[in-house]
Amino acid sequence: MTKKKFYITTPLYYVNAEPHIGHAYTTLAADILSRYKRMKGQDVHFLTGTDEHGANIEKIAAAKGVTPKQWVDDIAEKFRVMWTDLNVRYDDFIRTTQPRHEEAVKIVFEKLLEKGDIYKGHYEGLYCYPCENYWEEKDLLEGNLCPMHKKPVVPLKEETYFFKLSKYGDALLAYYKEHPEFMVPKHRSQEIINFVKEGLTDISVSRSKVAWGITVKSDPAHTIYVWFEALLNYATAIGLGHEISEHDEQKSSFKTMTHHKFTDYWPADYHLMGKEIYRFHTIIWPAMLMALELPLPKQVFAHGWWTVNGQKMSKSCGNFINPSEVIAEYGVDPLRYFLFREVPFGSDGDFSMAAFRQRYNSDLANDLGNLLNRLTNMAVKYLDGNVPEPLPENALVKKTSETVLKYEAHMEKLEFDQALCALWALISELNRAIEREQPWAKAKTEPEKLPELFGGMIYALREITARLAPFMPDTTVKITDLLGKKGDRVQKGAPLFPRLLEEKAEAKP
Ligand code: MSP
Repeated sequence: MTKKKFYITTPLYYVNAEPHIGHAYTTLAADILSRYKRMKGQDVHFLTGTDEHGANIEKIAAAKGVTPKQWVDDIAEKFRVMWTDLNVRYDDFIRTTQPRHEEAVKIVFEKLLEKGDIYKGHYEGLYCYPCENYWEEKDLLEGNLCPMHKKPVVPLKEETYFFKLSKYGDALLAYYKEHPEFMVPKHRSQEIINFVKEGLTDISVSRSKVAWGITVKSDPAHTIYVWFEALLNYATAIGLGHEISEHDEQKSSFKTMTHHKFTDYWPADYHLMGKEIYRFHTIIWPAMLMALELPLPKQVFAHGWWTVNGQKMSKSCGNFINPSEVIAEYGVDPLRYFLFREVPFGSDGDFSMAAFRQRYNSDLANDLGNLLNRLTNMAVKYLDGNVPEPLPENALVKKTSETVLKYEAHMEKLEFDQALCALWALISELNRAIEREQPWAKAKTEPEKLPELFGGMIYALREITARLAPFMPDTTVKITDLLGKKGDRVQKGAPLFPRLLEEKAEAKP
C-alpha cells in the first residue's frame, strides 16, 4: 500500500503542569508547517496529544488530593483549550490514557518480548521523578541534583524489563549515514552520532513500583515505562496495535480504537520537538521501530528553547509566560508571528514582552499595517477600488515571484524566520515604492499611470498575504477581505495593528 497522508507530529505534552509559551512553540510550529503543507496541496495529518502516566503524575495528583485520572483529565483539557486559543488546527489529539493507546502498547510490548528485544532483569540507578528518568552519576550537578530540574535524584532498585537498545547501535549509525535528512538541524545531530558511537546500553522499560501506567499484559506486577509507551503514540494513534491485533483474540476491543489506516500515514514526515528530547526521538524511538520492523520517520527536527533571562521557561523555574494573557492583550497572531520571526527555529531565544512589543510596532503596525492602510486607502481614493492585474513585465511581479521562491525554499527547511524575512523584504520594497512613486502626486500629474502602479502593489500584497496565512491565519483572512482576489474591488478598513504606545512598550520588562 502506498502512503497517502503527510504526517506531522508534536511530542506528547506532560500533564504535570499547566501549559506555557515554551510548550506552545512546538505545537505552533507543527500548525504552521501543517497549514503550509496543506496550502501546497498535501493531505496533512497533524497529531498532538498528552503524556499522562508515570510516578510523577501519581505524586502530583496525590499532593493535590485528587485521583491521577481527575488530574490528567483536568490538565489535558487545559492543553486543548490552549490549542484552541492559539488557533492550532490539529487533526487528532491522543491521550496516553485512552484505550486505543493503552491496548495497542500492551500488544506491542508482548510482541517485542516474544521477539527477545525485551527481556527481564534488575535495574539500579539514580532516578529523577520530574524527568521520569535515570541519570548517570557523572551527569549530575553538585549535591546529586538532576541537571534538568536541579532537584535531588533518588536511588532506585527494581526488577525491570529491558529493551535491547544495544543491539541497534550499528544499524542506527548506518541509518544516520544513509539518511542525512533524518536528523535536523545538523548542529545537533553530531552529538547524537557521537553518543551512539560510544556504545548503547539496554534501557529499562518497565516499573514495578509505579501503579499509574500501562500494565504489562503477561506480568501485571509491572507497568510500562512512561517514555517507552509515550513514544509509541505516533504509531498507536494511526492504528499500530490495530494492525498487530488483526489476528489477536482481542481484536474486538480494537474496533473502536482508531479510524485510521497505519500504512496510509506511516512513516511520519516530521516529528517536531525541543532539543532536550531529541535523543529519545533519534535513538530510542528509531531503535524501537527497527525492532518492530517498521520504517523510520523521514525527519526528526529539534528546535531550541524559549528562555527568560537566560533560563529555560518552565513551570518548575516559575518563569513561564501564560499565552492566554498575551493573547488577551494583543491577539493571537502577533504572538504566533513573534515566536517564529524573532529567533531561528532550532536556536534558543530569550522571551521578553519588550521585544514582543517592539516587533509588534515595527513589523506589524509600521511595515505591514501601514502598507495595507496606505494601499487600500489610496486604491479606493484614486481608483475607486478598481485595481487591474499588473502586466507580466511589471517589476513587482518579478520581485514577487523571486520572493515566493525564497519563502518556499525556507519553509521547506523549516527556516520560519527566514521565510518571514523574505516576505518582509518585499513589504519594505512596497513601502519604498510608495515613497518613490508618490501616487498622490501622480494622481494630479499622470493619473493614467496609477492603475498599473497599484496593480503591481496590490498583486504583491495579495501574494504576501497568502504566504503569511500559515503564521497569521486570522489576520490574513481580514487582509483578504479588504484586498479581495484577482478581479475583486479593493476596500478600505480599520487598521489591523494599532500602534502600541511607546511608554507602555518601555514600561514593562
Ligand atoms: N512528554 C514528553 C514528550 C514525550 S513524546 C513521546 C515531554 N513533554 S513536555 O511537556 O515536557 O514538552 C513538550 C514540548 O514542549 C517539547 O517539544 C519541549 O521541548 C517543549 N518545550 C517545553 N518547554 C520549552 C521551552 N521553554 N522552550 C521551547 N520549547 C520547550 O517532553
